[in-house]
Amino acid sequence: KNIVILISGRGSNFEAILEASRAEQWESAVPARIAAVISNRPLAKGLETARREGIDAIAVDHTLYPDRESFEEELGRVVDRYNPDLIVLAGFMRILTEKFVKPREGRILNIHPALLPLFKGLNTHERALEAGVRVHGSTVHFVSAALDGGAIIGQAVVPVLPSDTPDTLAARGLKLEHVIYPKVCRAVLEDRVKLVDGKAVMDDETA
Ligand code: GRF
Repeated sequence: KNIVILISGRGSNFEAILEASRAEQWESAVPARIAAVISNRPLAKGLETARREGIDAIAVDHTLYPDRESFEEELGRVVDRYNPDLIVLAGFMRILTEKFVKPREGRILNIHPALLPLFKGLNTHERALEAGVRVHGSTVHFVSAALDGGAIIGQAVVPVLPSDTPDTLAARGLKLEHVIYPKVCRAVLEDRVKLVDGKAVMDDETA
């Protein structure tokens, strides 16, 4: 099976998925491999990582397209070239509209740095601190046309400490993202995630 990863920057979640796929030998076990990493930012660090690891690394620079629709069309063409069974958004900072999502629904995952449905959108750590919540975390979910609105597959919870800044809180959450995202990817690839009444059910209690 082919995995295509979409990023915009650092790509640490991509690296975590790559490491898990190698350590757990997804290539023979699942079998699945990361076929390409695509970024809307040409200078994304994750593209360098992909190149270094011998993975196709492609930039589809959104600033070169007159509108969202033409950007998404080109992105779709590049993605489809790899016949992906799974499209993984990992720090991909562009909103995808129904035109992109609908034909690929059920095959696109995202990770959002908050316990959805709380704190959709940007600046989640600042907003969590502002709200005074005692726990925060990250959510892996199917992508639907509604922003951060698809069925939730896995969540990781971290405590919010009195001394936290947005950065320390983000760092604590990110560590767990690196654990849950590879797990969920693997479960989806192995068809262990089912949709029941619009809710995702994964047969792995640890994620
Ligand atoms: C993560 O915190 C993820 O939740 C959010 O963007 C960040 C991406 O980090 N969507 P990285 O590029 O995977 O390092």
